[in-house]
Amino acid sequence: MILERPDGTRDADRVVALGPVAVVPDWQGRGIGGMLVRAALEQAEREGAAAAVLLGHPTYYARFGFLPARAQGLLPPAPWPDAAWLACLLPAWTPRDAGVVRYARPSWRWSRRPRNAASSEGIRRCGSCPGPPVSVVPRSTDLDEAGTDETVSLR
Ligand SMILES: CC(C)(COP(=O)(O)OP(=O)(O)OC[C@H]1O[C@@H](n2cnc3c(N)ncnc32)[C@H](O)[C@@H]1OP(=O)(O)O)[C@@H](O)C(=O)NCCC(=O)NCCS
Repeated sequence: MILERPDGTRDADRVVALGPVAVVPDWQGRGIGGMLVRAALEQAEREGAAAAVLLGHPTYYARFGFLPARAQGLLPPAPWPDAAWLACLLPAWTPRDAGVVRYARPSWRWSRRPRNAASSEGIRRCGSCPGPPVSVVPRSTDLDEAGTDETVSLR
């Protein structure tokens, strides 16, 4: 992800995106979702990320330390609901890591594809989740590859 600070500076991969996380129904409730989220946060911390952000259910993600992101200084790339736009601040966080976060263009474009395009590729969308149907967002390698602040429609 690209972090755009209020002073105009930009930084790739200071903030990482997580989720939506999904576990097939027959395997839910066995701790798999929790393991996936914790593993992702541990990896982000190891790689020196300052925060992880996501669009998801606040009641589920609160247990991992995710709180409303805007209140912590991280603004979404589009007018997403504050209640579902969440951030987990990591040990490397500093006040200088506040700003607008944007998805890398490849994942942003993919998330905006029509529902039937995803289905025809054998990818099932998460029906109850307001976020893009991706569980792994490509790391940003080029600051010019940030997504735009176009509005996405939430289901
Ligand atoms: C959410 C999800 C990933 C959890 O995976 P899981 O392997 O079942 O999770 P775990 O076994 O680690 O944890 C189960 C706990 O999560 C809770 N939980 C599951 N979905 C929840 C939700 N939407 N809101 C709040 N809590 C939720 C369960 O009640 C259970 O709570 P408990 O530990 O107090 O009993 C899985 O239920 C799923 O794929 N759901 C559909 C997609 C989705 O909603 N993704 C997340 C939002 S983007």
